[in-house]
Amino acid sequence: MQLNAMELQGYRNYDSVKLKTEGGVNIFIGPNAQGKTNLLEAIHVLSLTKSHRTSKDKELIGWNSGSAIIRAEMSRRMGNVSLELQLSAQGKKAKINGLEQRKLSTFVGTLNVVLFAPEDLDIVKGAPGVRRRFMDMEIGQVHPGYLYDMQQYQKILQQRNNYLKSTDIRRASPELLDVWNEQLAQTGVKMMQKRKNFIVQLQRWAEKIHAGITGGNEHLTVEYKPSFGTADGMDNQDQSSLFGQFMIKLTQSKEQEFRRGTTLAGPHRDDLAFAINGKDVQSFGSQGQQRTAALSLKLAELELMHEEIGEYPLLLLDDVLSELDQTRQTQLIETFQSRVQTFITTTGLESVNMSRLKDASIFHVRDGQLLR
Ligand SMILES: Nc1ncnc2c1ncn2[C@@H]1O[C@H](COP(=O)(O)OP(=O)(O)OP(=O)(O)O)[C@@H](O)[C@H]1O
Ligand SMILES: [Mg+2]
Repeated sequence: MQLNAMELQGYRNYDSVKLKTEGGVNIFIGPNAQGKTNLLEAIHVLSLTKSHRTSKDKELIGWNSGSAIIRAEMSRRMGNVSLELQLSAQGKKAKINGLEQRKLSTFVGTLNVVLFAPEDLDIVKGAPGVRRRFMDMEIGQVHPGYLYDMQQYQKILQQRNNYLKSTDIRRASPELLDVWNEQLAQTGVKMMQKRKNFIVQLQRWAEKIHAGITGGNEHLTVEYKPSFGTADGMDNQDQSSLFGQFMIKLTQSKEQEFRRGTTLAGPHRDDLAFAINGKDVQSFGSQGQQRTAALSLKLAELELMHEEIGEYPLLLLDDVLSELDQTRQTQLIETFQSRVQTFITTTGLESVNMSRLKDASIFHVRDGQLLR
């Protein structure tokens, strides 16, 4: 898919700006604090109706504006589409081809993006919660049903935790606990299986892409680490035996759970493990290796989405190139430039290997203005 034109009004530091974008690579250059990330963020918001930087929509509205509008013309395989998203104190209004959507869920995913930003390094380096969020966001983009499971799971988890916290184990009702255990395990198992399948598919591409970027020197593996049992063990289990295992786990940890006032097993405690050439990346990887691993994961998503929806999403790379050495940059750009419309931000082109950027369109970003 391709973004052909975009317009922002009252979005962050953009009062009013229009741009025409080309297939291939679009580069946004400018000093710090001019609006480069804001622009990529706006594309991301148009895709998911949510920012990757904040959960407070109010922050997206320009300080001198009452509302923010993001408009875009795009082409997909099925034809041209115009999108509009308006944010104000009253909430969000979304239009596809001028038609207001009653539910935001019918708007989400008309435009698909994969964004890689500096903070994505935390997928490898950060706490397990970051990795769970990564899985949730990605699976949610291609399987809307997953988000529903997730919401259900969170609701049950919260009720169960409240009960564990507020109740003395000697007074606890076994019936009530049974109901929650069953509900938790039922939705939890669905999430675990989707996560497991997602990671298997992701690993397949991430390994290939990582090898490509590193000229075959590095072999990346990604492994799903459920909170009980193992991902390999899950291969030989159907849904009902995994459910049984989850129930046993909950029963076994009952005393500890009441003591600590919280649920100790389930998808909310899952993690991922990454290794390069057999060595754990979190502990032993260099900064560049960690960044490349995180990038390979994101690029793998491009391929997964391509398999899922039959066309490539847009690739948004925020401040990424200057952090990679020339060889890794070149491999990265060559891998995708002919297939994927890419938006890159950078503070300067000195460190970027321009000879490989065949027909890049260059935009200069200055204080919420764009100059070609
Ligand atoms: N709601 C808002 N209204 C107006 N201006 C805002 C709003 N939110 C952020 N800004 C301004 O936008 C500026 C540019 O932010 P942005 O993150 O896009 O910079 P950048 O060009 O990516 O810089 P860097 O190279 O440091 O990453 C910020 O300095 C901030 O002052
Ligand atoms: Mg930035």
